[in-house]
Amino acid sequence: MEIDVFTLFPDWFEWFREQRHVANALAAGSSLSCVNVRDHTPLSGGQVDDTPFGGGAGMVLRVDVLDAALRAHYGVDPVDLRLRRRVIALAPGGRLLEERLVRELAEEPALTLLCGRYEGFDERIVEHFASDVVSIGRYVLSGGELAAMVLCDAVMRKLPGALGHESSAVEESFSAALEGEPEYPHYTRPAEYRGWRVPGVLLSGHHGQIEQWRRERSRERGESARSARLSFQREGSGGEKG
Ligand code: 6GU
Repeated sequence: MEIDVFTLFPDWFEWFREQRHVANALAAGSSLSCVNVRDHTPLSGGQVDDTPFGGGAGMVLRVDVLDAALRAHYGVDPVDLRLRRRVIALAPGGRLLEERLVRELAEEPALTLLCGRYEGFDERIVEHFASDVVSIGRYVLSGGELAAMVLCDAVMRKLPGALGHESSAVEESFSAALEGEPEYPHYTRPAEYRGWRVPGVLLSGHHGQIEQWRRERSRERGESARSARLSFQREGSGGEKG
């Protein structure tokens, strides 16, 4: 998979690129490139953002600047780019990044991620250049970079060769093997610590029983997460609708 990130902070991704499963995916043929939007601005003094029309706080990433950056990198009118590859604008109000979307994106040959800063993007960027708007949760970050890394982390670990053992993603949370439920709890040595014992079944060597115990715990966790979400919604704390 080829991932291009358009950002004002390309340095941030240097650390990310060194993380093991990212490095593995890159070694296996994927790419993660950053384009510094500021390098392509047609404006003087490296200007990339501007104050919002109508007033209000903060700065907005300019459409002409992102147009220039995308055009310089791909050599096409950015309006046509989204017909050829997913162009994802990262913004708090977008489609929530969930396992289903992660899987969908992991099937793509190429992704372009657009990171807004400050108050975000001029809306015409989203309207004319992006194929998707994605959010990692209902809270506001200072920019799209951390969200882009979250998306890349989740997507890249799905790629062949990213994880040490091919099997480690098979039974992870939300996988088909767990019927979309969160993962069961794990324990390792010591078997007893400060009087806290590991569940006996895990030490029993009975694979069938272990399997059954894990399925039950996984289902239980899913159930309690669902009821926590439900009570949050009922209390009207501004949670998800629907
Ligand atoms: Cl994608 N961007 C920003 N700025 N804040 C967010 C987000 C994205 N997702 C959740 N909060």
